[in-house]
This record gives sequence, C-alpha cells and structure tokens, in this order.
Amino acid sequence: MIDKLLTITKEAGNIVKEGFQTDYKVEYKTNISNLVTEIDKKSEKAIIEFIRKEFPGHGILAEESGAANENAEYQWVIDPLDGTTNFAHGFPIFGVSIGIQKNGKTVCGAVYHVMNDIMYSAEQGSGAYKNGKKIHVNENDSLEKSLLVTGFPYDIADNPHNALTIFTNMVKASRGMRRLGSASIDFCCVAEGIFDGFWEVNLQPWDICAGKFIVEEAGGKVTDFIGTPSSIFAPQILCSNGKIHNAMIEIISKSTEE
Ligand code: IPD
Ligand code: CA
Ligand code: CA
Repeated sequence: MIDKLLTITKEAGNIVKEGFQTDYKVEYKTNISNLVTEIDKKSEKAIIEFIRKEFPGHGILAEESGAANENAEYQWVIDPLDGTTNFAHGFPIFGVSIGIQKNGKTVCGAVYHVMNDIMYSAEQGSGAYKNGKKIHVNENDSLEKSLLVTGFPYDIADNPHNALTIFTNMVKASRGMRRLGSASIDFCCVAEGIFDGFWEVNLQPWDICAGKFIVEEAGGKVTDFIGTPSSIFAPQILCSNGKIHNAMIEIISKSTEE
C-alpha cells in the first residue's frame, strides 16, 4: 500500500506544482483568512479518484469534500494542499499530506514538500524516510538551545487555548521560533531533526495524520498539552524530539495559568 500512497501523493503534488502562480479561482471558507483554491480541489479530486479505482472498499476523510465510507477498515486522511495561504501568496512552502489508518490506527503516511521535491514517508514499524533515506529526530535536550516551530489556526484572533500567551512564552524560552505555514511540513522538520519541537491548537485530522505518524516513526513524541498521547482528532498538538517535551509542557502549563 505504501507504494501506491507515494505514487498518488507525488501525482497530487505535481498538480499543485503545475498550478502554482497560475490564474486559479480562490474562495473564502470560514473567514477572509481561510482560503481554498481551485488547485486544492483539483488535487483532492485526483487523490479520491485514485483511491476509488485502486481501493474501492476504503474510506476517505478529505479536507475539501468530507467523509465517505466511514465504517471501512481502512481510512485515507487527506490534505490535498497543506499551506494554502502560502500557495495563494506565492510563498513556496506547501505540501500534500496523506495518512492511511487501519481500524483507527495510522499505518502509513506521506507528506510531499512540493517545491523542494522532498517526499517524507513512513510505514508502521519501519521508521521514517526523506526521499528514501532514513531520518530521525535530533538529540537536543535543552529548550534554551531549541529551534521551535508553530502555526496559528484561522480563529487565532479569539486566542483559543491561550495560543498567543503560549507563543510569547515559547519565544522567550527557546533559541528561536519559525512559522512555516504548513503543519504537515512542520511535523516532518521535527522528524528529520531540523526543529526540536512543534505545537499548534485546533489543527484538523488531515493536518495531523501523516505528519504525526512520520514523527513517531522517526523516534519523536506527539501528545496533547499535558502529555497524554493524542489522536488525529485532538485539538492540541505538542510534538518534539522527546527530550524537550516536558520542558515544553511546563511552558504551556505556566501560560494557561496566566
Ligand atoms: C493550515 C496549515 C497551517 C496551520 C493551519 C492549517 P491549510 O492548513 O497547516 O500551517 O497553521 O492551522 O489549517 O488550510 O493550508 O490546509
Ligand atoms: Ca492543512
Ligand atoms: Ca489544505
């Protein structure tokens, strides 16, 4: 199944690449910051057609078209273009993210960093890979020496889960902070040891499924904000190399008391 997953993730990535900086239609979703383009939809359509042809019995949970065949043993969790705001503004960091779950547990994942032509992937028990080469989280155990990454949900103006306070305190506690604009790529950068940690609130299952699995297969840790193992439906994601996890939890806990 992993070969087919990689094939369609790359194919969808090529659709996205061809669509970049062309004249496509853009619509608003929940608010003026939350965009969907014709290319998001084109990519998703190709992925769904592929699954229907290759695995007609499988279920689908896709960002733009929702759920189908929800009781099937296998579920494909699809973000056809992760980083739409970057895409729409011509900033070349965005991906295609697809995870496959079997009876509610992720068994394969792929994230394609489109403009860098990097395929991150993982299969249950076999580790995580970047363009076929094994990757691993880093060994850093000091939050002060950490480079962190985060993202903001489309309702950040309401400060959900004290996200803005957590952000301020993490900036102060770490060496630096980045905001790439694509959660699936954020996860993969932790998986390969570039970033030491990543957190975000109100992500959706399609933002999380493949990336979380790739981090776990790379030896990293993904929980909620108090350290409980989290599902792809969790409203809080804390992801790290494992070694700075508790230090990050402390900052979050302090921020929610403020
Ligand atoms: C978004 C990106 C972004 C994150 C947002 C997501 P989209 O996904 O992953 O990094 O901060 O919370 O919604 O809408 O571009 O698929
Ligand atoms: Ca997304
Ligand atoms: Ca998306």
